[in-house]
Amino acid sequence: MTGAALAQRYADVRAFSERLVKPLSPEDCVVQPMPDASPAKWHLAHTTWFFEAFLLKPYLSKYQVFHPKFGFLFNSYYNALGPRHARAARGLLTRPSMEEVLDYREHVDSHMAELLAENESVETARLIEVGLNHEQQHQELLLTDIKYTLWRNPLRPAYQEPQETAATTGEAGLQVDSRSFTAIEEGLYEIGRDAGAFCYDNEQPRHRVWRDGYQIADRPVTCGEWAAFIEDGGYRRPELWLSAGWAAVQREEWQAPLYWERAKDGPWRTFTLSGMAPIDPAEPVCHVNYYEADAFARWAALSEPGLRLPTEHEWEIAAAACGFAPSQGDFADGGRFHPSALPAADGVAGLAGGVWEWTASPYIAYPGYAPPAGALGEYNGKFMCDQWVLRGGSCATTASHIRATYRNFFPADARWQFSGVRLAK
Ligand code: AVJ
Ligand code: FE
Repeated sequence: MTGAALAQRYADVRAFSERLVKPLSPEDCVVQPMPDASPAKWHLAHTTWFFEAFLLKPYLSKYQVFHPKFGFLFNSYYNALGPRHARAARGLLTRPSMEEVLDYREHVDSHMAELLAENESVETARLIEVGLNHEQQHQELLLTDIKYTLWRNPLRPAYQEPQETAATTGEAGLQVDSRSFTAIEEGLYEIGRDAGAFCYDNEQPRHRVWRDGYQIADRPVTCGEWAAFIEDGGYRRPELWLSAGWAAVQREEWQAPLYWERAKDGPWRTFTLSGMAPIDPAEPVCHVNYYEADAFARWAALSEPGLRLPTEHEWEIAAAACGFAPSQGDFADGGRFHPSALPAADGVAGLAGGVWEWTASPYIAYPGYAPPAGALGEYNGKFMCDQWVLRGGSCATTASHIRATYRNFFPADARWQFSGVRLAK
């Protein structure tokens, strides 16, 4: 990317974060509804600190930090950069105010403009790309976290007005009661990203894997299918669940995906960023965790033997074979922030966007992986334990952030991300 193009991308990505908080009150931006969900104000400051720590301090001559304590407050987890405020206590930061955080953003943006003008090295361009991708990850986290925050309020306030979709304009045409698969042939396939364009370290090195033939579902599991799982006692049958999943079902009293509710025997409704809404049986099920995805697959296999979750290799091979087109996917760029029902399509659909798809793969290093030197080596590699890989991006991801090799990861019990399920067999 040339200097001017990079400066434009910097401006666009930074502006999108600020656009996302426009519908929020200052109070909305302070609350931390659970340890994993950070306040919106913290996301705005942390992404700003990232540019300060990884670009301005090392590369802009005579740079003065905006505030001497912000490194402590807004460092998330980089041990190499020193001690920090406890993650679970981020909601206690009534100060700095939202206004000061926006001033902090402006201070860093103006100095980043200086850096962009005076330093065109490959090294800084690469770090800026990391910082922008980092900010895009936090844009999605900001949306997932504010959704959880608003839902925990008994008033169930809406973040925005309902947005139009194909379904509301009468164009949707998906058959929810049929399930079709595309066959992928056995063979030697390449997994991961070549050197060249930006990607995260965890997508490398590119390497070969052997896959036996398998089939991948043409669409993600829908809410209609999930409602049938619930009706059939899905959340009451221990034989469908992994041991740790069943323990969590009992402890947390899960009876449906996060945000689903119904009056006794009434229809299911769900909380969205546009408030409570009826559930469209044709839309992809969202806000289920790995345990739920796995239990659903076991239940589905009772009537169609062999059904299961795909591995991340199977997912990526299918994306390479069937096409992965972010420009046509259901992403945050559309501004709806809720997965839309897929239009009727021939072949594999919905890989890009909509809902993140849980895979049956643990989040571990690819063969030959080594974390980069320095503090950025802590970005992905140190989390390669006890988490599962999700693929494809969601309606809360920006389209320019995603690719077919992208590896997202969350623990098995995480439900507040825009996560769903695709079956394989
Ligand atoms: C890849 C979404 C699991 O939430 O910590 C943010 C993204 N990395 N800042 C996370 C991330 C550094 C990461 N996930
Ligand atoms: Fe971060």
